[in-house]
Amino acid sequence: MSETATTVRVNLGERSYDVHVGPGILDDVGAHVHELDRSSAIGKVFMIGNPTVDALYGDRVRRSIADAVGAAPIDIQIPDGEQYKNFETLTSIYDRVLAEGADRGAVLVALGGGVVGDVVGFAAATILRGVRFVQIPTTLLAQVDSSVGGKTAVNHSAGKNLIGAFHQPAVVVSDPDTFTTLPDREYRAGLAEVVKYGVILDEKLFDLIEERGDEVSARAPQLLTELVARSVAIKADVVERDEKEGGLRAVLNFGHTVGHAVEKVTGYSRFLHGEAVALGMVAAARLSVKIGACSSDVPQRLEALLTKLGLDTEIPSDIDRAAIEHAVGFDKKVRGDLVTFIVCDSMGACSRKPLRAADIRPAL
Ligand SMILES: NC(=O)c1ccc[n+]([C@@H]2O[C@H](COP(=O)([O-])OP(=O)(O)OC[C@H]3O[C@@H](n4cnc5c(N)ncnc54)[C@H](O)[C@@H]3O)[C@@H](O)[C@H]2O)c1
Ligand SMILES: [Zn+2]
Repeated sequence: MSETATTVRVNLGERSYDVHVGPGILDDVGAHVHELDRSSAIGKVFMIGNPTVDALYGDRVRRSIADAVGAAPIDIQIPDGEQYKNFETLTSIYDRVLAEGADRGAVLVALGGGVVGDVVGFAAATILRGVRFVQIPTTLLAQVDSSVGGKTAVNHSAGKNLIGAFHQPAVVVSDPDTFTTLPDREYRAGLAEVVKYGVILDEKLFDLIEERGDEVSARAPQLLTELVARSVAIKADVVERDEKEGGLRAVLNFGHTVGHAVEKVTGYSRFLHGEAVALGMVAAARLSVKIGACSSDVPQRLEALLTKLGLDTEIPSDIDRAAIEHAVGFDKKVRGDLVTFIVCDSMGACSRKPLRAADIRPAL
């Protein structure tokens, strides 16, 4: 196994698992799947991905699994794109897995970005009331965010991620070498989530990205291993303390209230999620200054860093502010007419604050 890999343990009692991070560790997937056999015998192994990622990494992962487990995984391909994170895709997975005669030992291996991880995770949560699944996230966003924490979902016509379950993976294998093939926009959008962890909980992580911005943009594998592992450790810590989002876990939504609203009013087509989060974080940091929670230094540093990383910081003027405010009022996180807003208290520290949607207008 790779010597440069690090492992972050997510401690959730009997649902605990390891997140392995390191360049080249796609070749270790089989060994990690095989290790699952120790806790309870594994049955059929299914590898589920999409043609884009499969063409790049499918053979390597298949070979690794076949070598370690002694049988090639059963291949399932789903179409590439957020629009396929739906019931039809889910049903197609159910049909194949059940047709193969899967039992409760079945293992679903999700190879791809957050879309694949979310839909495969939900399939695993529901097939035979829950089978194990392995996350092999191949986008930056998926490595630092969606593969860890156990939220799984598909979209419904009434909204994104409305049908889902909490179902933790059995193991996560994250190889930052996969970023070398990631489209530039996808990569930069993922960086927004890494910056988010720095702003809300880890000033030193923010400093590190600031100091080594050029290497970050160049996707230097060792540095990326560190950024992914630190992001995962932060998310793991939050999830350990609040697995089902009773309270604390909401801090991970920093920048997301406005970000989601911007995505929604632009029809989920103009911005990638991370791009919208970058806009939302700047708005949230400005709002934090306006309500006296932090100094103007925080939004200034944040804007400078996001700009350096190639992310926009101003919500384009053609986007209707009233529409954003309206969308904020309809966010999933709204209780009564108050939105739980995440504000910065200083760089690396944040807190939850209930606000009215109208209160955010001056920061947009
Ligand atoms: N479960 C959670 O906690 C959680 C958290 C955040 C986001 N999400 C979900 O994640 C999804 C977004 O995930 P995403 O940003 O990874 O998007 P994605 O899965 O759509 O991947 C983006 C694109 O990159 C391609 N791709 C993936 N890896 C690649 C690689 N290494 N090289 C080249 N191309 C590659 C994909 O095929 C796709 O075309 C959304 O559906 C969102 O709701 C879930
Ligand atoms: Zn996000």
